[in-house]
Amino acid sequence: MIELDKIYKNSLKGKKFIDLFCGLGGFRLALESYGAECVFSSDIDKHVSKTYENNFGDYPLSDITKVNEVDIPKHDILCAGFPCQAFSISGKQKGFEDTRGTLFREVVRIAKYHKPELLLLENVKNLEKHDNGKTFKVIKENIENIGYNMYYQVINASKYGVPQSRERIYMVCIKKDLDNNNYKFPKPINKEKCVKDVLINNGDEKKYVINKPYSLIQTDKQVDMFKVYNKPVRIGTVNKGGQGDRIYDPMGQAITLSAEGGGTGSKTGLYYINNEVRKLHPRECARLMGYPENYILDESVNQAQKQFGNSVVVDVLQYVVKSIIDEGSIKNG
Ligand SMILES: C[S@@+](CC[C@H](N)C(=O)[O-])C[C@H]1O[C@@H](n2cnc3c(N)ncnc32)[C@H](O)[C@@H]1O
Repeated sequence: MIELDKIYKNSLKGKKFIDLFCGLGGFRLALESYGAECVFSSDIDKHVSKTYENNFGDYPLSDITKVNEVDIPKHDILCAGFPCQAFSISGKQKGFEDTRGTLFREVVRIAKYHKPELLLLENVKNLEKHDNGKTFKVIKENIENIGYNMYYQVINASKYGVPQSRERIYMVCIKKDLDNNNYKFPKPINKEKCVKDVLINNGDEKKYVINKPYSLIQTDKQVDMFKVYNKPVRIGTVNKGGQGDRIYDPMGQAITLSAEGGGTGSKTGLYYINNEVRKLHPRECARLMGYPENYILDESVNQAQKQFGNSVVVDVLQYVVKSIIDEGSIKNG
């Protein structure tokens, strides 16, 4: 997370928001950092709901398709990182045919009834291109038809101070009658950070060492040991080098954490650290997603890695929210 300037800390005080498809609460952390208050959360998964409860004190467990919009408290901001499997390149790309894809319609249903000032949405980069752009066109039209201007941009978290190459589409939807028609996404922050900066060193990381034969390869360019690379740098292979079997240099960016992902490095990727090859510790995943050090992790490593793979980078959201405040359409509560 980024440390906000004093003037921003209370800039959303009095604003209420809802956290749909809340997962670990990435949106919640970002909005609370500006002083906004969460009044409703929902997630269908019992494991992630427990982690959320451990951190925020609210147990979100619910299937949003079964929640009547009338029963959701009034709010100013609606947040939703709606499920993306139906649109991601790693999924089968069924889009609206897949019920998880149609969960976007839940966002429209709730927003249409409550008319919050702002909808903050996030999804996989491929959403924009899915089905030759038809899926995204439907999404944008639906949002516009219920009274919002939609601004969108694919943002790579690695350009916003977090050393993970994670491209996601961010959608800022401002109620038409409040919009200054002037919104611009935040400019990249040029901070040199790499995987090495998020590593733990208390012995616990040893549990993630892979005891399999591996080979280190010569990369296209000679890797400079002291240089920080602004992209993932592949330096080796376990097994046959399939997607989850590639080894990366900790002086580069992390590859995208994923909720599914196969191979030896499933979900976190593999890194060559202190002459060993290992996956990442859940705390390292938390850091790569911008979660604070006091965030309580799921006790199951598998669940924790999956939950971060599904989540949203808190720093990017904080920068996006800051840019919305600066734009001025959303007034103090
Ligand atoms: C892409 S993740 C969003 C993660 C979240 N933004 C975060 O900060 O961790 C989508 C979430 O939607 C949840 N979900 C899927 N179907 C749902 C439903 N019908 N009702 C409520 N939540 C659902 C999943 O369990 C998953 O946690």
